[in-house]
Amino acid sequence: MGMVPSGPGGGLSNSQSPPFTVPMRYMLFGIVGFLAFAVDLAVHSAELGSGMPLQPGLVAVTHLLTLGSLLSFVMGAVYQLSTVAFLIPLSTVTSARWNFWMYAVGVIGLIGSMAGWWIPGLVLFGSLVTLSLYVFVVIVLTSLKKTTVKGPVVWFVATAHVNLALAVTAALLLVLSFVVPPLGTVYQELLVTHIVLAAGGFFTFLILGFSYKLLPMFTLSHGFSTKRQPWTFALAQMALWVLLIGVWTHLEILMGIGGVFGIAMFVNQALDFRGILKKRLRKRTETPMVTAVAAVWIAVVGVAGLVVLMLSTRGLPQWQGVVMFYLMGWVTLTIMSYAYKIVPFLIWTKRFSHGVEKGKTPLIKDMINVERARPVVVVFVVGLIAMAVSSAWQFTLGATVGAALCALALLWFCLQMAKVLQIRKLSKELMTRD
Ligand code: HEM
Repeated sequence: MGMVPSGPGGGLSNSQSPPFTVPMRYMLFGIVGFLAFAVDLAVHSAELGSGMPLQPGLVAVTHLLTLGSLLSFVMGAVYQLSTVAFLIPLSTVTSARWNFWMYAVGVIGLIGSMAGWWIPGLVLFGSLVTLSLYVFVVIVLTSLKKTTVKGPVVWFVATAHVNLALAVTAALLLVLSFVVPPLGTVYQELLVTHIVLAAGGFFTFLILGFSYKLLPMFTLSHGFSTKRQPWTFALAQMALWVLLIGVWTHLEILMGIGGVFGIAMFVNQALDFRGILKKRLRKRTETPMVTAVAAVWIAVVGVAGLVVLMLSTRGLPQWQGVVMFYLMGWVTLTIMSYAYKIVPFLIWTKRFSHGVEKGKTPLIKDMINVERARPVVVVFVVGLIAMAVSSAWQFTLGATVGAALCALALLWFCLQMAKVLQIRKLSKELMTRD
């Protein structure tokens, strides 16, 4: 269905795909965001171990990662991949185009306002980002309405976007509570709701859904069982909602049960991935795909950490450590892995799919050797473990070294991406209207 490999690049694009500049602007913004995050992470690394989380600088770093890098990259990927996975065009390309600028201005303003904890800026730019994300959600959901594809992949992707709208609504209420004090009475509950819906309800649902399409495509796997997929979806929903009911009713036992559902969901997904890999035709599994599969186990450790924290009496630094571990180890690592496959493909399609004037048309594998991802992933994972463990136990030196290693790996990743993109050529391409 949909994304069967076709031609040298695989099936990441078809006649219904949006013009190159639409997904690419979001992706480029995301990669520049990764670069800025890497630098900022290195700068703030010492604070991670200081035991004083939720300082403005750290909140700004978190959103540089989530909004400036991950979400931006993901929005571009969703615009591109939805058209091939669900065989639909975008309901409006024009809105997707101008919404980029609203998002970009909003995110830069919001992160700046977070860093300086400037309340009017938080309200203004927070509202702008929220509005732009509502527009994104509406574009995706109205496009999805037209698909005839059925099953867990559509359920995951559609629900992820509903959850994103809810997550940013919680975020907007957080921001508004600074000027409407009564909202502040439920600040803690709103904050946890915001994090759970954004990191779990949006990013996790989306990655799970698209993995069912992307992993078989990149490993050339056919005829694997899809029996478990509805179970993964059901477990994901239970995890999310039981956790949230626990947060609002203050029943810790429910939060614990939600966490256990979450672990069961990831283990189910890991078994599904094993089934896909067993049926693969490509003998050697490439590093980015090995990483995407292994990252599920990082998610299991992250959620297990959450359950342990609920059952013990740990403070804010430990929570902050677990949330960062989940966001960087599961969400970021998976998105980086898929970027190694998606970015070269889009560039190849733009520059070479119609042939070249002279000489031989390069192949996608000539644009980047994806095995170069290996040292990047190793440095990133070592840094992540050092950072998470040290920041949870307030061991400043360990946290600083860990953060520096993660920053180094991210810079390396950005350099590799910049080489594929050929920034000068890309800026010209992005300047012309397609
Ligand atoms: C999907 C994207 C998002 C994710 C994954 C995300 C994640 C997080 C996380 C993990 C925290 C906890 C604080 C920390 O660890 O530094 C947080 C706090 C917060 N977020 Fe977001 N966020 C997202 C989008 C947004 C948006 C769009 C806004 C603004 C409209 C926003 C506003 C806030 C505010 C105000 C806080 C509370 C800061 C505090 O109390 O100190 N977030 N977010």
